[in-house]
Amino acid sequence: MASRVLLTGMELGVFDALDQGHDDVQALCAALRTDPRATERLLNALAAMGLLTKDDDGRFGNTVEAWRFLVTDSAECQTGALRHYANLWRSWSTLTEVLRTGAPVRRADTSPQEDATASFMAAMEYFARQRAPEVARSIDLADAERMLDVGGGPAIYSIEFCRRYPNLRATVFDLPAVLPIAREHIEDARLSDRIELQSGDYCVDEFGAGYDLVLLSSILHSNSEEQNRELLTKAFRALGPGGAVLIQEFVVDDSRTDPPGAALFGINMLVNTPLG
Ligand SMILES: C[S@@+](CC[C@H](N)C(=O)[O-])C[C@H]1O[C@@H](n2cnc3c(N)ncnc32)[C@H](O)[C@@H]1O
Repeated sequence: MASRVLLTGMELGVFDALDQGHDDVQALCAALRTDPRATERLLNALAAMGLLTKDDDGRFGNTVEAWRFLVTDSAECQTGALRHYANLWRSWSTLTEVLRTGAPVRRADTSPQEDATASFMAAMEYFARQRAPEVARSIDLADAERMLDVGGGPAIYSIEFCRRYPNLRATVFDLPAVLPIAREHIEDARLSDRIELQSGDYCVDEFGAGYDLVLLSSILHSNSEEQNRELLTKAFRALGPGGAVLIQEFVVDDSRTDPPGAALFGINMLVNTPLG
């Protein structure tokens, strides 16, 4: 219940509207073009969840947490990533149907919204910023000169690896729609001279040759076993002598129930991909 209330508040723009001073129900409804009775109920629920304050006159405001993470103007705003969860909500709601047919459901009302690439990349950025430093520490690349980041998305891993290893240059390989987002992050990190972009489809295109490292971070889970065998064969072909393939993935143990997060992530692939 709380997740749905939060996502709807974010989708409607409640937190931005409050930040802009629309702090009573009437003003908010006018700004958001919503129904007053329903809006008041949502605002009360958000206040009950600790995301909004409510004063004795019935005026609402953002709490510090809401301001930090849910207002677009905040440097720490996470609504891009949350939009990805709103998209996932649509596909997860088809789970019962997927269990009957064994295949993901593709309908207009379950398809990702327009900004799906941007929100997907925002979510990938959010996780990568937490994980990339540890992944970069997990391997010694002091002698490495070239890495290939297959499906590198927002390029956060390439950026982290290049920061840690000054002799390293990276190539971020991804679909064309994603590369402008990667470019923005690389420019922000001032690493355009060491990280290049390669547009392609990893199911179809070759990767080139001579890499010291091929990184497959959160890539294999989307594909079938056969696709992954081909992908790994291609990754090995792209390595120079002494090179390595580094895989970061959700991995379940032999029971297939542990760790719980990985077991649940399997459901995410079930509802969103044909064979992952
Ligand atoms: C789950 S994200 C992982 C992003 C990044 N590696 C990370 O760990 O943060 C998967 C990435 O693979 C890319 N991708 C998916 N299918 C692809 C394909 N056929 N060819 C190239 N890239 C693809 C997506 O655009 C996305 O950036």
